[in-house]
Amino acid sequence: MSTQIKSVLVENRVFPAFPELVKTANIAGMEAYKALVAEAQASPEGFWGRLAKENLNWTTPFTQVLDESNPPFYKWFGDGELNVSENCLDRHLGTPTEHKTAIIFEADNGDVTQVTYRELYNRVCEFANGLKALGYKKGDRAIIYLPMSIEAVVAMHVCVRLGITHSVVFGGFSSKSIHERLVDVGASLVITADEQMRGGKAITLKPAVDEAISMGGCEAVRHVVVYKRTGGAVNWTEGRDLWMHDVAKGQSADCPAVPVNAEHPLFILYTSGSTGKPKGVQHSSAGYLLWAMLTVKWAFDAKPSDVYWCTADVGWITGHTYIAYGPLANGLTQVMFEGVPTYPNAGRFWEMIQRHKVTVFYTAPTAIRSLTKASEAQPDVHPRKYDLSSLRLIGSVGEPINPEAWMWYFKEVGGERCPVLDTWWQTETGGHMITPLPGVTPLKPGSCTLPLPGIEAAIVDEAGGDVENGMGGFLVVKRPWPAMIRNIWGDPERFKKSYFPPELKGYYLAGDGAQRDADGYFWIMGRVDDVLNVSGHRLGTMEVESALVSHPLVAEAAVVGRPDDTTGEAIVAFVVLKRDLPEGDEAVQVAKQLRDWVAKEIGPIAKPKDIRFGENLPKTRSGKIMRRLLRIVAKGEEVTQDVSTLENPAILTQLSKSV
Ligand code: WT7
Repeated sequence: MSTQIKSVLVENRVFPAFPELVKTANIAGMEAYKALVAEAQASPEGFWGRLAKENLNWTTPFTQVLDESNPPFYKWFGDGELNVSENCLDRHLGTPTEHKTAIIFEADNGDVTQVTYRELYNRVCEFANGLKALGYKKGDRAIIYLPMSIEAVVAMHVCVRLGITHSVVFGGFSSKSIHERLVDVGASLVITADEQMRGGKAITLKPAVDEAISMGGCEAVRHVVVYKRTGGAVNWTEGRDLWMHDVAKGQSADCPAVPVNAEHPLFILYTSGSTGKPKGVQHSSAGYLLWAMLTVKWAFDAKPSDVYWCTADVGWITGHTYIAYGPLANGLTQVMFEGVPTYPNAGRFWEMIQRHKVTVFYTAPTAIRSLTKASEAQPDVHPRKYDLSSLRLIGSVGEPINPEAWMWYFKEVGGERCPVLDTWWQTETGGHMITPLPGVTPLKPGSCTLPLPGIEAAIVDEAGGDVENGMGGFLVVKRPWPAMIRNIWGDPERFKKSYFPPELKGYYLAGDGAQRDADGYFWIMGRVDDVLNVSGHRLGTMEVESALVSHPLVAEAAVVGRPDDTTGEAIVAFVVLKRDLPEGDEAVQVAKQLRDWVAKEIGPIAKPKDIRFGENLPKTRSGKIMRRLLRIVAKGEEVTQDVSTLENPAILTQLSKSV
């Protein structure tokens, strides 16, 4: 583990919880929060067991809360059975929620479609019955590669209803990425669409699936089910390819949910690590659902009258927990959006909040920063031009939110009436871990504040010892919690090594550096491993390097992050070619080729912003690339430290020039 922890800027402003929320919130007041924390500390099993009994519908009740006999392979509610889709849909039938709007879907072009909980249930059942008829069953795995749509939520619930483990692949990922995941999960089913609409343009999806399957090793795939989004032309493999509407046609609108064990893998979601290929983060059914449900209830203070909107894509964990599962389990009405925040103009989010009277809004710092810039340049799309008075809570996720962006969000979007919920969590944690609670927590711009009840977050040193408040260290979680990652799909050794290093006393290692202030508030300082965070998307430096070196022109590449005003971090790639150093226009051409190559290998989000060519990379005499120096060079700063251990110090000057 490397330590590159710097101190964060001191931020002194404190905003007390709003009195109205202290009275009415689902966790009302600091005393209520402290009581839950104390309950969890006194008896973790009593606490989690009580919540799991009170909040979930079990087909077979559990008798054991936590099985710790084989750490870190924890089992929660391990002898219980339930179905997650049943807990999100069927539970509302026969209640006032049955005919309530579940999803308000706004398409890229502004068309709005709505479904009630009853309609959503029926659509899930028809499609599920269709898949059942095709022989799909509990234990199968499906890849879902769909645009933001009601169909995406339906597809996820169809899988879950039948006990099929899904793995959603973000629509911006390449055929190569789909292929990797298809093979790794051993999928027998793929659910995709013809095309997706973003910013007024149709972008194809199915060709990437066809290409992925043709790369080989996907013999398990029996069907590709296609949602007709645009009606654009698609190639068709007879016998394998089926239209989603044909699969569902004529099927019964009731389909009993298949009970699964609490630990049954609900989904596998790939995320980047510091080494090797993306990791298939395996989540459980019951523990995950419990936390998805509770965190929406607690952090987003779910109320029946809410119109909730999380702007994430279902291809990320945020879209799983805070679109597909948490809001539905709570019976909320939620907005889902197909398009991009800047189309037809950068006022789209504000216009949608106004149109749908959104009360709870959850987005990413990168969106906030870019919309701040846009509204400074174009006053007519400034949030104050819209009626945002329906908002009561505004949330942030994915990367540290700097105090300036926090203040802008608080003032211009929240009208100084809405708490900003800076939620810290990860793909692996399943749901929020450290976050303000609307009726509890005094806010400090830039801090994700305090851990949720039951979450034993701490800052430790290299040996797992607690560090004092005010000192930087590794963010860990000391005790298991129900929604935690269960395994890396097919790679238990990597799971242990990545998250439970032996020197850390069995604590869960998050991979972030952080510190606590004198009030015990957490301040996240970013990753301490070779993981980048670009616009809230996680990317391994090694992944981007492997993509670069697989290009025939590239001999060697090193990738680092550089702070960026809009995207948080930007990717800078240092590249050694197999030919002589390109100059001028030629360098521009080669750099473009390499960017396009990375987009094809991984996806456009992984494109390096800055490419630097050199005849070599800075290395120690033993041949190790000095990334520490590259980070300095990437920022355009001068290297002032001693470089005498470098094999080739002159190379730093060459690498300081951008193409
Ligand atoms: C990494 C996890 C959480 C779902 C979306 C991203 C960073 C996330 C915050 C926050 C500071 C944050 C961390 C974390 N991160 N939320 N509120 N403040 N940093 O999930 O792709 O698994 O990325 O995102 O570095 O480790 P992910």
